[in-house]
Amino acid sequence: MRTTRRRARAALAATSAAAAGALLLGGAVLAPAQGAEPVREPWRDAADRHDVTLGFALSPGHLATPGYRAIAEREFNLVVAENAMKWDATEQTRGTFSFGQADQVADFAESIDADLYGHTLVWHSQLPGWVTGITDPADLRDAMNDHIDAVAGRYAGDVVAWDVVNELWNDDGTRRDSVFQRLLGDGYVAEALQRARQADPTAKLCLNDYNTDGINAKSTAMYDLVADLKADGVPVDCVGFQSHLVVGQVPSTYRQNLQRFADLGVDVRITEVDIRMNVPASAANLAQQARDYGTVVSACLAVDRCDGVTVWGIDDGHSWVPGVFSGQGAALPWDASYQSKPAYTAVAEALGAGLEGGEPTPTPTGEPTGEPTGEPTGEPTGEPTGEPGDADCAASWSVSSWNTGHTGSVTLTNTGDTAWAGWAMTTTLPAGQTLQQGWSAQWSQSGSTLTATNAAWNGSVPPGTSVQIGYNASHTGSTAAPAAVSVNGAACS
Ligand code: XIL
Repeated sequence: MRTTRRRARAALAATSAAAAGALLLGGAVLAPAQGAEPVREPWRDAADRHDVTLGFALSPGHLATPGYRAIAEREFNLVVAENAMKWDATEQTRGTFSFGQADQVADFAESIDADLYGHTLVWHSQLPGWVTGITDPADLRDAMNDHIDAVAGRYAGDVVAWDVVNELWNDDGTRRDSVFQRLLGDGYVAEALQRARQADPTAKLCLNDYNTDGINAKSTAMYDLVADLKADGVPVDCVGFQSHLVVGQVPSTYRQNLQRFADLGVDVRITEVDIRMNVPASAANLAQQARDYGTVVSACLAVDRCDGVTVWGIDDGHSWVPGVFSGQGAALPWDASYQSKPAYTAVAEALGAGLEGGEPTPTPTGEPTGEPTGEPTGEPTGEPTGEPGDADCAASWSVSSWNTGHTGSVTLTNTGDTAWAGWAMTTTLPAGQTLQQGWSAQWSQSGSTLTATNAAWNGSVPPGTSVQIGYNASHTGSTAAPAAVSVNGAACS
C-alpha cells in the first residue's frame, strides 16, 4: 500500500516564521565579499521577475551549518535532493521505504516557500544491489512500478517536476547499458513515464542527462526520443540539462540546443550546473567561471520555455566535484567559507538583481495582461548607419510583445579580429518605447537613445564569440525592434 506524506500545516507555519527570522539574520551574515562588494537582491527575487526558479541541490545534513543555511534560505526558490530521493536512499531493501532525509528536503523547501523538484526515479546509478541483481523482466517491471508508485506517490502534489529517467544515454547517442535497458528494452522509458503520471498526475515529467548541453550526438538522441514519445502520446513534459561543465567550455550551441527542445513542445531546465576547474583556482579561471555562469543563466532567460537553473550544491566545501574529478573543484558560486565568488555576482547580474540599499531595482510598469502575441516582431530592418568596413560586430535583435510591453533579446557578436575588452551598445528605440529593466548589462535610456554597457563578467568578448543581453520595455503601440545598432561607436551588421 502506498504511503502518502501528510503535511502538518500548523507546524509548518511555525517553521516558516522561524525561517523568516533566520532569513534576516542570513542577510547580515551574507554580505558578499565583506566590504568589497555591495549586497545584492536575492537571486530568487530577481528570478521571480523572469518567472523562472533558481534552485540548489540540498543535502539536509548541511543545514546545521549556519553559513550554508543562510545562503539556502536567502537565494533559492527551488530545492532538489542531492541524494535523498534516489533509489538507494528510499528503498534500500525491496518493499521497505525510508523517507526520513527525503522528507527533510521536502519540509525545508516548503519552509522557505520554494518549489520541490524530484530527483530521480529510474537511474542506473545509486541503485541497490537487489535491483541490479534481478534477471526476470516481469520481476524488474514490478520493482520499477512499485518504486515509482511509492516515491512519486508520496510527494504527489508537492513536487513540481520529476526526473523520471536519469542518464539513459551513452555519449555516442546509443542507449546506456543498465538493468532496465537490458531486461525491458528501449520501451522502459515510456513505461516509467506512464507509471509516474499515474503516481503523480500533477508533476511535470522530465528526462535528464549530462553532456547533452550542446548540440551533439547524445543530445540529438534525446531530441529524437522526445519527438517520438510525444508523437506516441507518452507523457513527457520536460528535459533537464545537467550542465556539469568545465570552465571556459560552455558549448557554443548551448542556447540553440535549449531552444530546439523548447520548439519540440517540452519545457527545459538547467538541472545540475557546476563549472569546475583545476585547483587551486586561479583568478583568471574564477573570472572565466563567472562569465560561464552568466552565459548559462542568460541562455535560460533567452528561451521562453526554460523553467530555471539549479546549481548542484551551494559552496565548494560541499561539492561532489573534487571526489569524482581528480585535481578539480571550485565549481560552485560560493567558496568553502561561504564567501561569494565572482560567479555569484555574474548570476545576480544576469538575473538583473539590484543592489540592496543602493539603486532600486526597476519594476516593469505595464505587466503582461495577455500572452505575447505572435512571433517576435522582427529583426532590425534598417541598414547600419556607419561606414562600410568599420563594423566589427553583428547584432541580432528580437522582440516578443504583449499589449503594453515587450521583452527584447539581443545578441552582439564580435566579428572583428581583436577581442573587445569592454563594450557599449547604443541604439535608437522606436517612438513610444521606454526601457523598464534590463539584464546581463547596465542599461539606460536618454531620450530615444538606449545604451547597454557590459556587466563585470561579460566585458571581454574574444573574436567570433557573442554576448546575450535582454531588457523589458513598455510601448504605446510600436513594437518594432530598433533599426540600427552600434558597439563601441562602430555600426553593426
Ligand atoms: C551526485 C551527488 O552529488 C553525490 O553526492 C553522489 O555521491 C553521487 O551523485 N548526475 C546526477 C546526480 O544526476 O544525481 C549526481 O549527484 C551527479 C551527476
